[in-house]
Amino acid sequence: MSLPHSALPQATLPHCDYFEAGRCRSCTLIETPIAAQLGAKQDRCRELLTGVPAAAWLPPVASPDRDFRNKAKLVVGGATGRVTLGILGPDGAGVDLRDCLIQSPGIRAAIPRLADFLDATGLAPYNVPQRRGELKLVHVTEAPGGALMLRFVVRTEQSLDRLRKRLPELRETLPRAAVISVNLLPEHKAVLEGDREELLLGSSLEMHLAVPEAAPGADVALHLLPQSFFQTNTAVAQALYAQAAEWVDRVDPASLWDLYCGVGGFALHCARHPGGAARDVLGVEVSEAAVRSAERSARDAGLPARFRAADATAFALGASEGDLPELVIVNPPRRGISPELAAWLERSGVPDVIYSSCNPESLRRDLADMPSFAVREARVFDMFPHTSHLEVAVLLER
Ligand SMILES: C[S@@+](CC[C@H](N)C(=O)[O-])C[C@H]1O[C@@H](n2cnc3c(N)ncnc32)[C@H](O)[C@@H]1O
Repeated sequence: MSLPHSALPQATLPHCDYFEAGRCRSCTLIETPIAAQLGAKQDRCRELLTGVPAAAWLPPVASPDRDFRNKAKLVVGGATGRVTLGILGPDGAGVDLRDCLIQSPGIRAAIPRLADFLDATGLAPYNVPQRRGELKLVHVTEAPGGALMLRFVVRTEQSLDRLRKRLPELRETLPRAAVISVNLLPEHKAVLEGDREELLLGSSLEMHLAVPEAAPGADVALHLLPQSFFQTNTAVAQALYAQAAEWVDRVDPASLWDLYCGVGGFALHCARHPGGAARDVLGVEVSEAAVRSAERSARDAGLPARFRAADATAFALGASEGDLPELVIVNPPRRGISPELAAWLERSGVPDVIYSSCNPESLRRDLADMPSFAVREARVFDMFPHTSHLEVAVLLER
C-alpha cells in the first residue's frame, strides 16, 4: 500500500497577513519552512523516545502547507449586524480571520456567507468582557467532496428559535450545508461548546476517506455527528489510517481492539484481512454518540465490526482472558492512556500494539510503563502544520 504525502515537501512558506500584522499568532511556526518544522518534530520524537528500543523511523508524513484544516472553530465577535468570525483578541474583542489560509477552501468560501447570514439575523455577538450577547461561536467542518456541517453555539432558547426560523434562508445561503445544529451554552464559560445540541438539518456528515490501494473494505465513509471528535487534517488522517492498516495487515491478527476509537477511523480501516475476509474488530469509546456513528458506518460498509460505549481502561480490565484480541490499537487524548491500562497491556500477553499519540510526552510516559514492548516502526504525521503539535504512531512488538 502506498501512502500519500510521505515525502518531505519543498521548503515553502505561506505568507500570512494576519500573522505579520500581529492579529493572530496561532500558527507559531509559520515563518519556519515546513520541511524544517517537520524535521524538528521528528527529532523531538526521536529524542523523547530515546531509551525505548526503536527499529525504524519511517519518513515523516507531511501535510499540505495550507488548506489543510477540515474544521474551523470561529469565535463570533464584533457588533450586531457587523459580526467578525475568527478569534478573540487580547482585549476580548473579536478578530476577523475569514481569509485564514490553513482552513480548507470550502470553509474559507463559507465564512463570508455565514457572516452575512448572522448579520441578517440581528443576533448580538457574545461580548466576553461584558458577559452580554447571544452568539458565541460557529463550528464549520468540511467533508471531502465539499459537504459542510455548521454548528452555532448560542446562549439562549430565543436564539435557537430565531436560527430555526431562518433555516430556509441559511440553506439557500449555504447549499452545501448537510448538517446544521445549534449548541446551547448558557454559562459564561471559556469553553467551545455546551452539552445540549439541537439538530436543525441532517444527522451526520459523511467523511469519506479514500485510503489508497487499501484492502477491500478499507474505503469507508465515517459518519461524523456534531459533538464527535474527528482528526482535523483529512489528508494526514487518511495517511495515518493507511499506515495503521498496513501495520495491521503485516501482523494480520485474527482479532483487534481499537481503544479510544472515536467514530471508528482505525477500526473500520483495519476491518478486513488482506484477502478481503472480515477481521474480528471491536472499538471502544466513551462517547455513546460516536459509537452510534461508528456502528452506522460499519453497517453501511457491510463490515461486522462491533463497538462499545465504555471507558477504555474499565473495558480492558474487565475482559476475560478468552476474549483478548491479538492486536490492540490505542489513540487516546493528549493525556495518554491511564497507568492502569498501560500496566494491563504490559501483563496481558497481547503480542502487538499500535499506539497513535498527539502528545509524545505522554506516549513516552506510557511506553515506560510497558517495558516488554519494543518499537518496531515509528512515524511522525504532520497533523498540525505551523504549530509544535504533531501525531506520532508506533508499532509495538512484545
Ligand atoms: C484522539 S481522539 C481519537 C479518536 C479516533 N481514534 C480517531 O481516529 O478519530 C480520542 C478519543 O478518545 C475518547 N475518549 C476519551 N476518554 C476516553 C476513555 N476514558 N475511554 C474511552 N474513550 C475515551 C474521546 O471521546 C475521543 O473520541
